Amino acid sequence: MKGVILAGGLGTRLYPLTFATNKHLLPVYNKPMVFYPIQTLVKAGVTEIMVVVSGPHSGDFINVLKNGKEFGVKHLEYAFQEKPNGGIADALALAEDFADNGPITVVLGDNTTDADISSAVKGFKDGAMVFLKEVPDPKRFGVPKFDPKDPKKIIEVIEKPENPPSKYAVTGLYIYDKNVFDYIKQCKPSWRGELEITDVNNFYIKEGKLQWSELNGYWLDAGTFDTLFFANLYWAKKNNPSILQEIKKIIELD
Ligand code: DAU
Repeated sequence: MKGVILAGGLGTRLYPLTFATNKHLLPVYNKPMVFYPIQTLVKAGVTEIMVVVSGPHSGDFINVLKNGKEFGVKHLEYAFQEKPNGGIADALALAEDFADNGPITVVLGDNTTDADISSAVKGFKDGAMVFLKEVPDPKRFGVPKFDPKDPKKIIEVIEKPENPPSKYAVTGLYIYDKNVFDYIKQCKPSWRGELEITDVNNFYIKEGKLQWSELNGYWLDAGTFDTLFFANLYWAKKNNPSILQEIKKIIELD
């Protein structure tokens, strides 16, 4: 299985931080953000990886990731998304040749998790697999709607719904078979002018080919000031539990 990390976009929600560099190179405790999706893939046995980049700071990636050897990556290549906010599906389209008619695991560059997806990767046969996580604020995400008659079956994914049909987020980790690229070609830009990964997932639902499992572990998309801060806090505590005392002191200062 090959893997793709989508690290395009302009990171406008993080201006002014992203004036100077790409969002995915900002620190999450002691590592640039993009190290986390790489770790997730390598831990799952995925060591042939494409990173899709875009925007004015694309060149910075190579200084940070180099050829990926120090992370256990055997083959690392880069693609450049011309329209930096063309959408997640637009960025994924660039991996068609790299995937070479095989399945691919996709991770969004701002998603950090300590979940282990290796059994899903190893057991993947065809169709699509999405990973769900219960969240307090589903409105910010793609949200699955379940069949009232079969509560384990997703009948639709709705992107950033005003009235979320469930308490789950579709996280930014996906496994797709080769049909993903045909579905992307059929996608039309959404209200936000992007080719949406949610539309791709809905194609799989229509074909009865979307499976899901719950992501076991901590998960956060670090794309806003608050979630970037929470991700820093989580990984700081995980890497260095003794830091907790100091954090508690700061919180109690209030
Ligand atoms: O984090 C999970 C959520 O990610 C999902 O629940 C949503 O269904 C999915 O649409 C996405 O939502 P966001 O609005 O948070 O996506 P965002 O625009 O922040 O993009 C997430 C990552 O995708 C970003 O860190 C880099 C990559 N990306 C994004 C765009 C728009 C690209 O590579 N190219 C792009 O054009």
